[in-house]
Amino acid sequence: MPVKVVVGAQWGDEGKGKITDILAAEANAVVRYQGGSNAGHTVVVGDREFKLHLIPSGILHEDTLCIMASGTIIDPICLAEEINGLRERGVHCDNLRLSGNAHVIMPYHRLLDALEEEARGSASIGTTRRGIGPTYTDKTRRMPRGIRMVDLLDQEVLRAAVADQLELKNAILQHIYGHAPLDTDEVIEEIADALPIITPYVTDARAIVRGCLDRDETVVLEGAQGTFLDLDYGTYPYVTSSHPVAGGACLGTGVAPTEIDETIAVAKAYTTRVGAGAFPTELHDECGDGLRERGAEYGTTTGRPRRCGWLDGVALRTSAEINGATGIAVTKLDVLDELATVKIAVNYEVGGERLERMPENLDRLEGATAIYEELPGWQRPISEAKSPAELPAEARAYVDRMAEIAGAPVLAVSVGASREQTVWF
Ligand code: IMP
Repeated sequence: MPVKVVVGAQWGDEGKGKITDILAAEANAVVRYQGGSNAGHTVVVGDREFKLHLIPSGILHEDTLCIMASGTIIDPICLAEEINGLRERGVHCDNLRLSGNAHVIMPYHRLLDALEEEARGSASIGTTRRGIGPTYTDKTRRMPRGIRMVDLLDQEVLRAAVADQLELKNAILQHIYGHAPLDTDEVIEEIADALPIITPYVTDARAIVRGCLDRDETVVLEGAQGTFLDLDYGTYPYVTSSHPVAGGACLGTGVAPTEIDETIAVAKAYTTRVGAGAFPTELHDECGDGLRERGAEYGTTTGRPRRCGWLDGVALRTSAEINGATGIAVTKLDVLDELATVKIAVNYEVGGERLERMPENLDRLEGATAIYEELPGWQRPISEAKSPAELPAEARAYVDRMAEIAGAPVLAVSVGASREQTVWF
């Protein structure tokens, strides 16, 4: 049975949650491989919408294991709120598993993220202020050691690790930010209520995934954020601190590259980005505003309006290569319904040179001009389409062009928010 990676092909918010949720119904396990509470997706429980940041969207499928793997980072307070919220709505969460190796987002990480961003002023990255950068920094710094989920199981170990961390953090807080020092007991107290809720789920996640693979079960490896927020392949330094690309799925879960059968690159039919950084197809006009309003492009995690623009084919071509996409899932195609013409950037022009792919030195993107191809719009609603044949010819031509650029077939097109509003090819 296949191992499938679901990866964001753009700058995040591509609608991976919806695709993962559909795949989860057929899967034995959904494994999130990187990132933390900076992500956000909405699940619908009964008639209520519920926003999740950490728990994979597969949680609603009781028979599907939902695993947060070693490459993720976990905020105990945020996770406990999500578990409690789901339980109140009758979702028991017994299928949740948390890697003991995943690092913990501590309250001081959130504080430092906010202080660092404020200190950067106009040069800020526009982070979600969820403590992502500071937590991964502690992981890679190694000493004093970052705190892992397994450390939450032993009060003595936790206390010693927090005390070690605070020696360094307090020096930074006091001397760089003029902030009052933090107290070990108070920090532990802040997360204390969350611990009995989350620690029962801590386990050897890699062993569980291994068991699924050995039994030939279907496993979905779910990325958060998107390819161009990747620490290595994104628009550095305006990126997140982990590896959303498909290769990150191997790092984050311990599944070997040779065991991956499919990589589904999820791409919105246009482009959005939150936070600072290059965005060659960004629209600063009514058309961009129209995409934002029709696409409800406001962040799930921060509520920030997303920057909107035409589909960036250069980015799509590059991310399909980086991720080894075996197919693409196109989301939010219906948002383009009203437009008379739709544009796709097929090249960038930088310093007199035409580029087909993202340059390695992404600083060059700041001066890039997008070269567009214009396609006719379909100017009618497509949200009722149930099969490829029910899509207008112009809409088919648009997604076919996306497939051509990506060099991978279209697997699915999302034409509305609900699970049913998905056309499978
Ligand atoms: P961080 O991950 O909070 O450190 O933020 C770093 C950059 O990634 C910022 O530009 C954020 O807006 C962006 N980012 C982080 N998570 C997401 C996401 O889930 N969707 C879209 N952008 C994100």
